[in-house]
Amino acid sequence: MSQQRRPLIAGNWKMNGLAAATGEFIELVRLSKEKDNPACDILICPPATLISKMADLAKGSSVAIGGQDCHAAESGAHTGDIAAEMIKDAGGSHCIVGHSERRADHNESNATVKAKAEAALRAGLVAIVCVGETLAEREADRTLDIISDQVKNSLPAGATAANTVIAYEPVWAIGTGKTPTPLDVAAVHAHIRKELGTLMHDSAAVRVLYGGSVKGSNAAELMAVENVDGALVGGASLKAADFWPIVETSI
Ligand code: 13P
Repeated sequence: MSQQRRPLIAGNWKMNGLAAATGEFIELVRLSKEKDNPACDILICPPATLISKMADLAKGSSVAIGGQDCHAAESGAHTGDIAAEMIKDAGGSHCIVGHSERRADHNESNATVKAKAEAALRAGLVAIVCVGETLAEREADRTLDIISDQVKNSLPAGATAANTVIAYEPVWAIGTGKTPTPLDVAAVHAHIRKELGTLMHDSAAVRVLYGGSVKGSNAAELMAVENVDGALVGGASLKAADFWPIVETSI
């Protein structure tokens, strides 16, 4: 964790959560209000159907709301898609783009991810750009090359430390209970920061999150790794009692 970068602890609810799940969110907001000046930013990215409702519930708290994906266009004939402007309009302030589940399930290329990240910036959202290698790529010793390629080609034009966050999520660590060693995380995060240095003038201030099987029991160790500026949490973000201990490592 760094002095100059304020940690961001973000939850990605993925395709989980009906209206009743907002009870967990209300509890998270309550916990956050017990902290006067939290030392980290807290974000939940619920399914799109809950953004507006949860943005209302978060009012007056330090908890921000975001989308999990957006279309590159501002509006138009794209049935089922959501524009970044709609996420903003619903009360969101951030948008995840290029999550590995979208890269895999929807064949999203780096170029698509970049266009979506640029849409997020256009709408005034902070883009959280996800990168990460598969198990086959790690075993073939290609991790750093894959990460370089994703960072270089997914980063939006006009990216600054204020409008863009990178999330390193090794695909094989997502939802598996497996995590890289702190040394492996440190190596990839240092590599990402080096790449960002060639692409951005304020790269030293960009937050680089770690994601993949983060939970209360391993969060402190992962958050202590150099160049790790927060977490992107899936399963353990769904319940306030699981998520709050992760927030507490950085608060
Ligand atoms: P898990 O925390 O469930 O492994 O998911 C990580 C993730 O994909 C967050 O975007």
